[in-house]
Amino acid sequence: MPIQLTLVGKSALITGGASGIGRAMAHVFRALGANVIVTGVSEQEVQSAAADPALVGIELRVLDVTDADQVTRLFDRLAGLDILVNAAGIGSQGPAEFALASFERTLDINLSGSMRTCVAARPLLESGGGTIINVASVMSFLGSAASPAYCSSKGGVAQLTRSLALAWSAAGIRVNAVAPGWIDTPMTVALKGDTEKNGKWMAHSAMKRCGQPEEVAAGIAFLCSPLTSFITGIIMPIDGGCLAS
Ligand code: NAI
Repeated sequence: MPIQLTLVGKSALITGGASGIGRAMAHVFRALGANVIVTGVSEQEVQSAAADPALVGIELRVLDVTDADQVTRLFDRLAGLDILVNAAGIGSQGPAEFALASFERTLDINLSGSMRTCVAARPLLESGGGTIINVASVMSFLGSAASPAYCSSKGGVAQLTRSLALAWSAAGIRVNAVAPGWIDTPMTVALKGDTEKNGKWMAHSAMKRCGQPEEVAAGIAFLCSPLTSFITGIIMPIDGGCLAS
């Protein structure tokens, strides 16, 4: 086994890769030698990612993970795939998290969206030692009075990850997830400005800081690499010690 973190010769697709953690992952994957396809939810998001000099040479596509036909069309066009990362997701807090329509929308994107792409990618990943990384959350393990939809969706992502790992291991596919704590991305801009919530998070953090998207990306790259060939079905916290408290 090569004792080196490399993705040379691997092809990877990152959903929600035009922003935040997904975009950082695209940088890291490319630096490790992978061929990367990044998807954004809209043409506008893709155009903004295209202007990022660090994404030059990376293929950008529009993909809404709630659109089953779009998902099928995208994966049907791929000649091969070694790595799928499901980073597409939304999060909110407050009344919208309790309204059934937005509750279902959160599940549709965060949970069913991951399932759609996993199913579409399976024929490409099997037998080649392919791997899937789902982006779960520390909220896969914790409840939140303000975020029942988000927590339910991320709890589901953790269970989806374990179940697909068991179901698809015989097909040569490893399925793992990462569970980030508070990461500094567009999704958490509002949280950053909220002194009370900010204080609560920091009280639970061993490192007393939020993480950077690149720190999550590095953990994901590790889980995709041949160094972790005996790891499947895990949900790996990348949380500055949040779940330790
Ligand atoms: P972000 O908002 O920067 O990125 C989320 C991406 O998902 C965006 O590109 C967005 O356009 C895309 N997206 C939203 N709806 C979509 C849809 N219907 N179809 C396809 N793409 C869609 O946020 P961030 O932080 O980079 O989030 C990435 C993942 O990490 C999400 O699943 C999020 O729940 C998870 N996460 C984030 C944490 C944080 O503190 N930022 C903590 C734990 C998990």
